[in-house]
Amino acid sequence: MDRIRLVGGNELNGEIAISGAKNAALPLMIASLLSDEPLVLHNVPRLADVKQLERILENHGVDIAVHGRRRGEEEGVGQRMTFHAADIVDTTAPYDLVSKMRASFWVIGPLLARCHEARVSLPGGCAIGTRPVDLFLYGLKELGAEIDIDEGYVVARAPKGGLVGATVTFPKVSVGATHTILMAATLARGITVIENAAQEPEITNVAECLVAMGAKISGIGTRTLTVEGVEKLHGATVEVIPDRIETGTFAMAAAMTGGDVLLKGARPEHLQSALDVLARTGTTLTSEANGLRVHRNGNGIRPVDVDTDPFPGFPTDLQAQFMALMTMSDGVSQIRETIFENRYMHVAELARFGADISVNGQVATITGKPQLKGAQVMATDLRASVSLVIAGLAAKGETVVNRIYHLDRGFERLEDKLSRCGAEIERLAG
Ligand code: EPU
Repeated sequence: MDRIRLVGGNELNGEIAISGAKNAALPLMIASLLSDEPLVLHNVPRLADVKQLERILENHGVDIAVHGRRRGEEEGVGQRMTFHAADIVDTTAPYDLVSKMRASFWVIGPLLARCHEARVSLPGGCAIGTRPVDLFLYGLKELGAEIDIDEGYVVARAPKGGLVGATVTFPKVSVGATHTILMAATLARGITVIENAAQEPEITNVAECLVAMGAKISGIGTRTLTVEGVEKLHGATVEVIPDRIETGTFAMAAAMTGGDVLLKGARPEHLQSALDVLARTGTTLTSEANGLRVHRNGNGIRPVDVDTDPFPGFPTDLQAQFMALMTMSDGVSQIRETIFENRYMHVAELARFGADISVNGQVATITGKPQLKGAQVMATDLRASVSLVIAGLAAKGETVVNRIYHLDRGFERLEDKLSRCGAEIERLAG
């Protein structure tokens, strides 16, 4: 299994091109199931999760093509891909494919809307929490679906003539359930109102894609989405937004090591709450025409308390990285994780660097130290793994991060991007 070796202590200086957002690319790919015409996506990141979803979509009969780089286009630019679901040959998403990636469960929305039936394996729990699917099932039932659980599969059937528009009021904000019901509603008969919808920029990216495919959606970017169902959707060409979590991750890395980094293509408005928090730590953030500049000189890192929240709040996907930063702050800070009940696995690993963190229920208390020391570490999820890389960049001496397949799920060319900015980081094969 590959590992990453790094020697900490170098400042980060230079430019990093931000890749397309994993969490936008995945649902955009799934949206291709809604039409028999091709959906062309630009700026798709090269990630293990994208590859895994390709396998799942191919199993349903989607033809997938990756196009070459255009003349003059920079190396490292995201992929241009076409997803063509001319015929859905199978409405079952099997356990061995779905269990590897939770977002693949979301195919249930488009399959049910277009084919009026779907049999999708329950995704199960994962390292960061139990992650149930009750909100998905509630929403689909409101649209008229009949749902059974059979041998670990959700078996869903639409009424004769297809799904029917309805009001879906989510008791809790869910990104995945919002994506799924939004997609399902585009082909339902009549009007669907989704209340307490997630407002993440990735939802907006998908909603705008659906509109480009001929869907009728209003309220995009707000808590209430209204969808007037249409008979059919057509093909479209859509760009994946830049990854706000990758942006925030590199911003926190630069805040921790010190230095001056331009995050090219970043959209600051997609992570304003995280940038506000970073500014309070003493990091200077400047919006520039082609991205976001992050700068910190030799001054100390000020402690800041943070609660994770749905967008526009501080993202749970940046909680681990921010905790890494706080381990070297000038005082005591507290983080409250409100989205997932078990997203503190990085705490024990950060302790290997000498970090002082205690957890009590949802709240982690971090007492900053002037210096961390490199260590052998490993993590059980994507964002936790990258928090260990950030800690290693600032720690004294050598760090080896094991099990980096988690990183490959969500970070494109991580070690290349960091080493171009002066980090001493390499991948060790095997
Ligand atoms: N929830 C329920 N019932 C449901 C669905 C969700 O109780 O039916 C709960 C979850 O257990 C959780 C909360 O609602 O406590 C929010 O979960 P949500 O459904 O919003 O998460 P998700 O859609 O499964 C996406 C991202 C995650 C990100 C969360 C929160 C993708 C592919 N995944 O997950 O990203 O943490 O939203 O913002 O978009 C990651 O990229 O590393 C990652 C985990």
